[in-house]
Amino acid sequence: MKFVKLSQTNDAMPTLGLGTWQAEPSVVKSTVYAALELGYRHIDTAFNYNNEEAIGSAITKWIDDGRGTRSELFITTKLPHIANRASDVEKFLNLQLKRLQMTYVDLYLIHVPFGFHCDPETLTPKVNEEGNYELDMDTDHVATWKKLEECQKSGLIRNIGLSNFNEEQIEKIVKHATFKPQVLQVELHAYFQQIELRKFCEKHNIILTAYAPLGSPGAKNHFVTKYKYSPSTFPDLLSLPDVTTLAKKYGKTPAQILLHFLVRQNIVVIPKSTNLERLKENMDFYDFELTTDEMDTLIRLDKGENGRIFNFLFWKGVEFHPEYPFESVKQKLL
Ligand SMILES: NC(=O)c1ccc[n+]([C@@H]2O[C@H](COP(=O)([O-])OP(=O)(O)OC[C@H]3O[C@@H](n4cnc5c(N)ncnc54)[C@H](OP(=O)(O)O)[C@@H]3O)[C@@H](O)[C@H]2O)c1
Repeated sequence: MKFVKLSQTNDAMPTLGLGTWQAEPSVVKSTVYAALELGYRHIDTAFNYNNEEAIGSAITKWIDDGRGTRSELFITTKLPHIANRASDVEKFLNLQLKRLQMTYVDLYLIHVPFGFHCDPETLTPKVNEEGNYELDMDTDHVATWKKLEECQKSGLIRNIGLSNFNEEQIEKIVKHATFKPQVLQVELHAYFQQIELRKFCEKHNIILTAYAPLGSPGAKNHFVTKYKYSPSTFPDLLSLPDVTTLAKKYGKTPAQILLHFLVRQNIVVIPKSTNLERLKENMDFYDFELTTDEMDTLIRLDKGENGRIFNFLFWKGVEFHPEYPFESVKQKLL
């Protein structure tokens, strides 16, 4: 249960990774060092998290201190929305590798299926005079994927994958790919279990990584204060009676129940924490086994599409991009 095998490289991907969204550079360096000391071997970051440099420093220090080697680690980062085009892949990947102080990453994902025009000064999305983000309507997944394949072949990336893509978008890439997508990272937790997408991924030998596995308790404040965006409800999965009852029974915490539930189904989890106690807590969910009935109880918590937290509408107008992936979100807006 501690690793899953990636189909084309046979690489072992740890089923537990450290999420780092909202982990500020000033704290993430010590967090990552502490996590590595505790035994985390998989770190998930992205260009958009603005913390690759700090994470790179932590890993370099850990290796220089003689605590471990690069080959023991599984490092994931992501091609940002502003670079979602073939002509930008190498430029951004090289910049990210430089920030991470690495010669390769273990997994590189296309972060989102849509693209924005890039302000070359700030490396952020271009904004027009009305304050709207400038969508790049020419996003071409197959062309971008072909570039990723070249970078995989040249050794800059060991495995390539996707994030936030829907079935139709993945199918198109699979059809044209020489090196098939190895991993899909999507929102996945007790309220949003992605049942259909999981069947599809199984068929294509794609490993799923669950982001927001705890229901992203920190997203609420972030979205409301930073984007003035307030979806009506945010889930509180950690307080659900079905979860707390199981936690009590097994002498575990609600977070450990939620993580165990996913990993038991061969799903990789990447809970984020910058708190030492919670870092320890989030590793310690492999030593018990929920019964089939208990697993079923948690499976019944699924709300399908109604459980989705991340729709990316905080990027005003993103739903008008031809590759905006969430059809049901679009339907609700009509
Ligand atoms: N591909 C994508 O588009 C995408 C989108 C979102 C996220 N991600 C990735 O997935 C990772 C995880 O998602 P996420 O950060 O949104 O949500 P999450 O891991 O479900 O939740 C993280 C939040 O829960 C708190 N927390 C962590 N452990 C806890 C515990 N044991 N008990 C109670 N609270 C706990 C954290 O606060 P403290 O830090 O204070 O502990 C933080 O506020 C991200 O960090 C990122 O790497 C990817």
